[in-house]
Amino acid sequence: MSGKNFTSVEQELLKEIMLHRRDVRGNKFLKKEVPDEIIEKILLAASLAPSVGFSQPWEFVIVRDNNTKNLIADSFELENKKAEGMFFDEKRAAYAKLKLEGIHETPINIAVFYKPSVKPVLGQTTMKEAGEYSVVCAVQNMWLMARALNIGMGWVSIVDPEAVKEILKSPPENKLIAYLCIGYVKEFLDGPELEKLNWETRKLVSAVVYQNSYPKEK
Ligand SMILES: Cc1cc2nc3c(=O)[nH]c(=O)nc-3n(C[C@H](O)[C@H](O)[C@H](O)COP(=O)(O)O)c2cc1C
Repeated sequence: MSGKNFTSVEQELLKEIMLHRRDVRGNKFLKKEVPDEIIEKILLAASLAPSVGFSQPWEFVIVRDNNTKNLIADSFELENKKAEGMFFDEKRAAYAKLKLEGIHETPINIAVFYKPSVKPVLGQTTMKEAGEYSVVCAVQNMWLMARALNIGMGWVSIVDPEAVKEILKSPPENKLIAYLCIGYVKEFLDGPELEKLNWETRKLVSAVVYQNSYPKEK
């Protein structure tokens, strides 16, 4: 076989990085600067992601400025209050206790945008969403590289994307895909925080895989 052949040790390592990757929130970050070289490595990982028609339809805004973070955090507060109201009884009480962002606790925030192409993109002619999916692939690459560098990353989706676009002066055609908070951590949990807090449990692979088609009655 030509091309790089990975050893079983390397295969195990990839699984380990995936297993130990965590969404990290404001209760776990350290007040410590992240060197530029680390951010460059994380952005390089993003740029290596697969993309429909090799369109690489991603753009990144790196946010370090406190005033900008304040405005983003205001949007989070507003949306999070609305979100809390969508849950009831014990779930609402549990939701209210969750820390669901690390905007101020991290030195670096990165807003990840989808930039639609003005020309037809190979592979995106039928499923228009394939461009946005490509950007999500880039985010996952960033998450895995951050974890391999022992850097924490949290994805904040409880923000108004239009408000974030305005705050960051995004071109109107761009779409916000992810708002990421990146920094050193006190600890990485050995499983999802939401699992530890009994919010959700991990699904078994066997519970979500079907052979040849879905069964007649689900
Ligand atoms: C698309 C997406 C959006 C997310 N948005 C949020 C969010 O707004 N706030 C939050 O605390 N976690 C958010 N998360 C993190 C998930 O809660 C987390 O991935 C999940 O609980 C599993 O934990 P783990 O990533 O540590 O394995 C998001 C994750 C994804 C993939």
